[in-house]
Formats: sequence, structure tokens, C-alpha cells
Amino acid sequence: SWTMLNIVEECVEAVRRQVGDGRAICALSGGVDSAVAAAIVQRAIGDRLTCVFVDHGLLRKGEAEQVERDFVAATGVKLRVVDAAERFLKALSGVTDPEEKRKIIGREFIRVFEDEQRAILADGPVDFLVQGTLYPDVVESGGGTGTANIKSHHNVGGLPEDLQFTLVEPLRTLFKDEVRRAGEELGLPAAMVWRQPFPGPGLGIRIVGEVTRERLEILREADAIAREELSRAGLDRQIWQCPVVLLADVRSVGVQGDGRTYGHPVVLRPVTSEDAMTADWSRVPYDVLSRISTRITNEVREINRVVLDVTSKPPGTIEWE
Ligand code: XMP
Repeated sequence: SWTMLNIVEECVEAVRRQVGDGRAICALSGGVDSAVAAAIVQRAIGDRLTCVFVDHGLLRKGEAEQVERDFVAATGVKLRVVDAAERFLKALSGVTDPEEKRKIIGREFIRVFEDEQRAILADGPVDFLVQGTLYPDVVESGGGTGTANIKSHHNVGGLPEDLQFTLVEPLRTLFKDEVRRAGEELGLPAAMVWRQPFPGPGLGIRIVGEVTRERLEILREADAIAREELSRAGLDRQIWQCPVVLLADVRSVGVQGDGRTYGHPVVLRPVTSEDAMTADWSRVPYDVLSRISTRITNEVREINRVVLDVTSKPPGTIEWE
């Protein structure tokens, strides 16, 4: 729309003024905020922006390709991709404690990003770091009270504080819905623009138990089926998000054909919410739940049971870890 176009152009102009003929770097997470921020900065300064995508191997099906292929095609952004899946898996090996997982993922992310930063600095100085901070984040951090969240939060893209950069925050006057509209205006892939909240530590905190390559593959397939069926039922915009959680250390007996199975359950956790501080479990129609369950147990061999989480927040958090 005309007004959105204006807002985008104003953001682009402001970045141009701030960065001048300097260079900037930006970490992409696969989420809408960093993507829109990067696209705006790219419009403003072109190739003087370098984006870094650390693929930690904990994204959902198709999300890495969305960044590497579709986002780059849509924006022409200069992108460095680091396939760090092996490194993250190694660091997570044997770890089951949720907070420990979060800390490891956050720490590894920063290390990988710092290596990339060194490589980019070899081509000349970089003064600016792009971040997808939104207006509510600005207000929240200025308010001083912070959020009452008891989990340690990592936004992948949340970077160490001692970095010698000036922040470029092109979204700091915008609300989430404006960011999405800006993303559309900028021609970003719809799947990115409309992506529901997804935690920085990714699928790493949706596997209850140790994170392994095989378990990630199982969860990725189950999650893709749930997302597909929820979309097909037109529920994307009613549901805040729907984590699918693999109870990797739990097994239960099942039966398929003549055979006994001894597989893992997945939990569906569809929630409605305004701001993720509180949430209610979504009353997803039974026939949709049924399709998801049937497809997951048919198509993902290791899963023989699908259960529904009917807990509100509080007392349950949205994620299981
Ligand atoms: P909880 O589980 O605390 O989640 O009810 C609230 C919202 O935050 C998301 N979440 C995260 N987002 N980094 C993020 O960027 C994180 O470490 C993280 N942990 C939880 C969660 O998906 C929900 O939307």
C-alpha cells in the first residue's frame, strides 16, 4: 500500500543517513524481524551490507533454504552461510538439561558469528551491526522492569555486548504487524513474512532429551506435517504458534498391522496468545487434530503416538523447555 511504501522508504532513507558510506553486518535467523531489517538495509547501502546466516541445524523443514535461496533471490542481499550443524550437535551431545541446552546454543552461535565477523573485517572495517529490534522491545528495555520470563532467552542474532559496533535498528519504530506489511512490500517470501514465533534455540529445545541428528530429523518431519495441516485448515492466523515436541526419552507400545511397535510420542502444543506472556491452549477442531495424528503416525515411522497439550500459560510455558 502507499503508506507502507512510504514507511519503508523512510526507514531506508534513515539507514542511508546513519551508515553513510560505511559497511554493516547482520545476522539472519530465518525470522521475519531480522529478514525485514536486512532487506531495508540492503536497499539503503547495497553490497556494503553483509549478512551472515549461521545454520545451527536446529531449524524446521525448509527454513534454511528459505533464507539461503528465497530470501537472497528476493533481496539480492550478500550472504555468507555457515553450515554449523555438526558443531552444534557436538556441543549438545549428552546434554538434556533445558537451560544447559540454551546456554550452549547461545554460546556456540556467538563463537561462529565472531569467526565470520573476523573474515568480513579482513575486507575492511565494519562499523555497523543491524538488529531487528521492534518498538515493543525498545519500550520494554527502556521500561527497566524487563519481562517476567524465567527461561534464559536467546534470540539467535542476540550478540555479545562488547562488540565494537554502532547498532542500526531500522524497525525500532514499528510494531510486528507493520514489520510483516513492510516485508510484503519488500517482496520477501510469504513463509518468512508470516512465520509464527520460533525460538532462537530452535528444535533443540523441542526435543525432551538429548538432541541428536536422527531425533532432529524425526521432529522436523512431524512438525512439517502439523504445520501443513494447520495451514490447510486456515488456522495459521488464529493460532499464535504450535510447537511440536518430541518426547525422545519416552517410549510407548503401539500396534501397526500385525506388528508391535515401541515408538516415541510427539506433543502438539497449539496456543492462542496476544504477546506470549500468557496463553491459552487452542481449541483446534477435532478433525484437524485427527488428520495431523493420522499423518504423523503413518508417515513418521518412529512416532506411534500423538498427544495434545491442554495446559494454559501459566502454569505451563508455551515451549516445553
Ligand atoms: P515460553 O516457552 O517462555 O515462550 O512460554 C514464550 C515465547 O517465547 C518463545 N521463546 C523464545 N524465543 N528465544 C526466542 O527468540 C528463546 O530462547 C525462546 N524461548 C522461548 C516461544 O516460542 C514463545 O513464543
